[in-house]
Amino acid sequence: MSSVCRSNMRLLLLHFFATAATASAFVLTPQYTWTKLILTHHWPTTFCGMEKCHSKIDTWTLHGLWPDNGMDCNSTWPFNVSLIEDLLPDMEKSWPDLISPESTSFWKYEWYKHGTCAAKAESLNSQHKYFGKALELYHKVDLDSVLKKFDIIPSTKYYLFSHIQEIIDGFYGVNLKFQCVHPSKNAGYQILGQIEICFTADFSVMHCERESRAVNSSLRAEAKPGFSVCDPEVPVYYPPMTML
Ligand SMILES: *[C@@H]1O[C@H](CO)[C@@H](O)[C@H](O)[C@H]1NC(C)=O
Ligand SMILES: *[C@@H]1O[C@H](CO)[C@@H](O)[C@H](O)[C@H]1NC(C)=O
Ligand SMILES: *[C@@H]1O[C@H](CO)[C@@H](O)[C@H](O)[C@H]1NC(C)=O
Repeated sequence: MSSVCRSNMRLLLLHFFATAATASAFVLTPQYTWTKLILTHHWPTTFCGMEKCHSKIDTWTLHGLWPDNGMDCNSTWPFNVSLIEDLLPDMEKSWPDLISPESTSFWKYEWYKHGTCAAKAESLNSQHKYFGKALELYHKVDLDSVLKKFDIIPSTKYYLFSHIQEIIDGFYGVNLKFQCVHPSKNAGYQILGQIEICFTADFSVMHCERESRAVNSSLRAEAKPGFSVCDPEVPVYYPPMTML
C-alpha cells in the first residue's frame, strides 16, 4: 500500500467514526419520543349527549393538544393556574371544561396526561408555552369558521360524511381525523363528535392517521367511550345545540 493510499484510508475511517458517533449520540439522547402533535376539537352538543352535561356552546372547542407518544411524563410538575392567568379569558372560551365550567380540573388533567410529555420539547417546556401554543394553533386552524365557510353547519338533516371529509381535508391540504359516536350497531347514522388536526414538532400541519388501529393504543383510550373513526359510508348527523 502506498502512503497516499493509507492516509486516504485513515481519512475514510475518521469519517466513518465521526458519522457513527453523531448517529449514536442522536439515538442515545433523544430529547423526546413523540413526533406528532394532535390538536383535538370536540363538538359540545355531541360531547354533552354522551357525558350528560348541558352546554350552551355552539362552537368547536379544544379537547387537547396531544403528543402521539407518551402519557403522564412528569407527575412532579404541578399544574398551577396562576402561570397561565393571562390566557384564562381565552382558555374559558376556547378550551372550556364542558362538565364543570367553573373548575380548572380539565386543564390540570390535560397538563398531567399530555402537557408534561409535550413539554419535553423546548418550544413547549412550560405551562404557559403549552397552553399558549394550543390556543394559538386552535385560532390558526379556525375549524369552526372553515366548516361554516363551506356551509357545513349544525342541522337536523344528515350530511354525507365523505363530502365533509373531502372538503375539510382539501381546505387544509392534509388528512384530518374525524370521530363519531355510533349510537348503535345498525343505527344507520353516526354523530359527528371530534375532529383532530395533526402537526409536526415544529407546528406545520401533517396528515393524521385515519385508522384507529394506527394510533397508539394507550392514546386511543383517551377517546371517550363511544367515539370512533367516522364511517365514510354512513350518513352523519351534526347536531344543533338544542337537539341532543
Ligand atoms: C405507545 O405509547 C406507550 C406509552 O408512551 C409506549 O410505551 C409504547 O411504546 C407506544 N407504542 C407504540 C406502538 O408506539
Ligand atoms: C419534572 O418537572 C420538574 C418541575 O418542572 C423538573 O424540575 C424536572 O426536571 C422534571 N423531570 C423530568 C424527568 O423532566
Ligand atoms: C404558582 O405560580 C405562582 C406564580 O409563579 C407562584 O407564585 C406560586 O407559588 C405557585 N403556586 C404553587 C402552589 O406552586
